[in-house]
Amino acid sequence: MGCFPLFSTVTLFVASLSLLISCSYGVNPDVLATICSQTQNQEICESILTSDPRTSSADLPTLSLISLELTMKQASDNNQSFTQFRDNTTNPSLKNDFSNCVTLYKDMQDKLNAAYLLSKQRKYKDITDLGQLTTLAYNCENGLPSDSPTAAITEDMLLTSQTAISVNAYVAT
Ligand SMILES: *[C@@H]1O[C@H](CO)[C@@H](O)[C@H](O)[C@H]1NC(C)=O
Ligand SMILES: *[C@@H]1O[C@H](CO)[C@@H](O)[C@H](O)[C@H]1NC(C)=O
Repeated sequence: MGCFPLFSTVTLFVASLSLLISCSYGVNPDVLATICSQTQNQEICESILTSDPRTSSADLPTLSLISLELTMKQASDNNQSFTQFRDNTTNPSLKNDFSNCVTLYKDMQDKLNAAYLLSKQRKYKDITDLGQLTTLAYNCENGLPSDSPTAAITEDMLLTSQTAISVNAYVAT
């Protein structure tokens, strides 16, 4: 009879102990490596995440927010660049292509804002649209001439998106 209260006390103790450990350690380097091994370039993924000083002491919920904030920043920077390219060019065909990119980036920004809200609510399994970011970024660049000066910022968007996709897939499991 007295076994049950004892059992639950021990269980509770072990549970709170492991919670304490996982909280105080934050995201350890092994977890970061596991997350980033799922992207095109593990090293770049790790440098993207550690570019934010909060990452070294972040728990997984914070890492999710950080990864989304970094991707929102990249999307916002790229939107500004594509808007400038659209406004600067006098070539009607190019103007149309850049305009298409601006529309695609608006879509990406909307998806990121929605994901950010879900992350704040810790509804990680409901974050299902991030995978489309890479497709949208490709759609933009593929509509442009192959010598487009935007190849580098598109690559940045792809790598940052992959990082956020992998972080949030990990946090959702
Ligand atoms: C995209 O950038 C342009 C130019 O800076 C800005 O006016 C526009 O509001 C931006 N769009 C979004 C969705 O942030
Ligand atoms: C667009 O033109 C403005 C004004 O000349 C210039 O400052 C800016 O760098 C140009 N942007 C791009 C992306 O070419």
